[in-house]
Amino acid sequence: MTTRDNTGLDLSAAAPETAAKFDAALRELALWRNPIAILNAATDEEPKFIMGHIFKAYMDMASTDRRYANMAAQRLEIIEDLCTKNCLARERLHLDVLRQWHAGDWIAASRGFDHLLATYPTDFLALWMAHQLDFYLGHSARIRDRIADVLPFWDPTHPLYSFVQGMHAFGLEEAGETERALAAGLSALNAEPRDVWSIHAVAHAYEMLGDFDRGADFMDAGTDSWSQQNVLVSHNAIHTILYRLEQGDLARVLDLYDAYVQPSGKTPALLGLVDGSSALWRLHLDGTETGDRWQRLANSWAPVAEQAFCAFNDVHAMMAFVAAGRDTEAARLLAALDRVLEQGDLKHNTNLAVTATVGRPICASLQAFGRADYSAVVDGLLPIRDQVIRFGGSHAQRDVVERTLLEAALRDNQKSLAEALISERLNHRPNSPYNRQKTAQLAAMA
Ligand SMILES: [Fe+2]
Repeated sequence: MTTRDNTGLDLSAAAPETAAKFDAALRELALWRNPIAILNAATDEEPKFIMGHIFKAYMDMASTDRRYANMAAQRLEIIEDLCTKNCLARERLHLDVLRQWHAGDWIAASRGFDHLLATYPTDFLALWMAHQLDFYLGHSARIRDRIADVLPFWDPTHPLYSFVQGMHAFGLEEAGETERALAAGLSALNAEPRDVWSIHAVAHAYEMLGDFDRGADFMDAGTDSWSQQNVLVSHNAIHTILYRLEQGDLARVLDLYDAYVQPSGKTPALLGLVDGSSALWRLHLDGTETGDRWQRLANSWAPVAEQAFCAFNDVHAMMAFVAAGRDTEAARLLAALDRVLEQGDLKHNTNLAVTATVGRPICASLQAFGRADYSAVVDGLLPIRDQVIRFGGSHAQRDVVERTLLEAALRDNQKSLAEALISERLNHRPNSPYNRQKTAQLAAMA
């Protein structure tokens, strides 16, 4: 039986009740809640519901966690078997993308999404996953333009429209159109105040504008909307932390960390661990004492730190081991990277290529930071500064690498380099207290 989702796209092997579950799962995804329970119910009821299996396989891949990606292999077998018998052209395109993504060729998968969305611009699942993949690839302009390409095809009265607008807001911010990003994000939030990705886009916009007071007020006012039952809680919390850091409100920073970022549960999402490292490493660079928080975070990283599956995660795991003084685990992480680099196919595996050019050098530089070898940090990071975008993340997330380089330059008494780095920062954000503090530190150098 073929029926349609609420954007009018055909779904094979779906009764109307199954299609309704699919629509509900898409809404959960848009709200950054876990849709797996709904999807499991859909495929339990209708085991041949291909888009249900496809949706779950994407969730596994988007996790950037090898444990889940391994589960996607089994799902791919089910999808391939169903597609061999009978599936729609769009479902076959999804299968092609998933095969490429699962094989490690993120760039081919991204191109597959281009093709799919050119034909089916209202495929929200493809759009959401492609948006994440563009983010993982650090394709700033594509994060914006992919959404701009499909926006004209979306009915403004559709229940998912404002979420598409919110994705565009984030893309505008990452592509440097900050004022437009702010307007688009606030407009999306008018339609759905619980849209945590639009909240996130607005938080980024205030950060890039250097408007830390308005950003902090905005996040405080929206705490109930961003802090409950979604996967992005820790991430929106660190955006709030970034404002409070600029305001010098350390007590508030640690309160926010403890309330929303500190890992909990047996298998915390890797995004949450990344957020933890990202927030605490900034404090570490400033020499701030954070109690046992690094040890607890390193404990959470330990079981997954040798995955060598996503360079962005590897770097953040390394921060935890270095700051916690856990040299053995840091060395094992680096050895795991070397193992996959020796054995893997750098030409067709996107993450391996990024690990070779960016991930491993940053990890090694962080280790050097840990042993106070600041000239080695500068030597490691300076040549790859312009390449760091390749490991994905946002401007705000990658800034932690820039701060590490600046701190190393200051501690190694490399005055002219530190001066240039601070000058760049002031050019972007002249009213950043952090930038002004570093200027004062530079002036005090002998
Ligand atoms: Fe962010």
